[in-house]
Amino acid sequence: MKILVFGSLNVDRRYIVDHFVQPGETLSSLSVGTFSGGKGLNQAIACKKAGSDVYMAGKIGTDGAFLLAELKDADVVTKHVFIDEKEMSGHAIIQVDKNGQNCIILYGGTNRTISQEEVDEVLADFDAGDIILLQNEINNMDYIITKASEKGMLVALNPSPMDDALLECDLAKVTYFIMNEIEAAAIAGDSDPEKAVEVLHAKYPESKIVITLGGDGSMFFDGEKIWRHGIYKVKAVDTTAAGDTFTGYFLNGLLEGLQPLEIMSLAAKASAIAVSQPGAADSIPTKDVVLATQLELK
Ligand code: RIB
Repeated sequence: MKILVFGSLNVDRRYIVDHFVQPGETLSSLSVGTFSGGKGLNQAIACKKAGSDVYMAGKIGTDGAFLLAELKDADVVTKHVFIDEKEMSGHAIIQVDKNGQNCIILYGGTNRTISQEEVDEVLADFDAGDIILLQNEINNMDYIITKASEKGMLVALNPSPMDDALLECDLAKVTYFIMNEIEAAAIAGDSDPEKAVEVLHAKYPESKIVITLGGDGSMFFDGEKIWRHGIYKVKAVDTTAAGDTFTGYFLNGLLEGLQPLEIMSLAAKASAIAVSQPGAADSIPTKDVVLATQLELK
């Protein structure tokens, strides 16, 4: 079974700051670095490092060659990454503060110039039963969801960043939702995560639902019951891509048919390790590292 990640590839410019810049303030950063990122690229690498067979589709500009190299180094298949000669690659301006928290400004760039013909070209290489993993940093989301589901592909959605256009998509076609509590509240219309699961199950009875709850860990509704797991203790250096790491490990665990609590534990541990390292894609651990690392639950 193949996982196609159809999503964003970003050049992440990461600035370490004393605090997030305030309105009207000019703030000197303590250091700067350029990293491979984008929720699509990060999740493709997380799925691959967790053990899946992964294909990446998306679009970069001529300035994004290192993004392609990062995917290739990780053994992700990149033949479906298009190159746009005219537009710049997507990029993110990321502030990381002393506590490792981040805030991000995105410019979509080539992530938002994907045509329906390109979508058709990519999907032609995939079959019923393959998985497509989507986030919300590219254009033509509704078209991709519709066409992939018409082919019988299973749709996994990490609805991040949430916006009104995504809420207009036919989310009944989604088999796996992997999201945070804010995204769950936006889709369900209820900010209580338990109630959100009830609403989502009533609306989308075939879907499995994963909700991350920040410091309170995560919940997983497998279609019958809700499972819960906590987070692991680490010193936070950079939270960028923590959610992407969790998503990749979770989806891989589901596809491997692991037990719910085992999936949740692996995803939580992988994401804790990512938080303890700088960068986005570079901070995602391999499964060997995850298995070998001893961490305490909070
Ligand atoms: O989820 C983290 C990612 O969000 C970063 O790598 C940045 O590119 C933005 O897409």
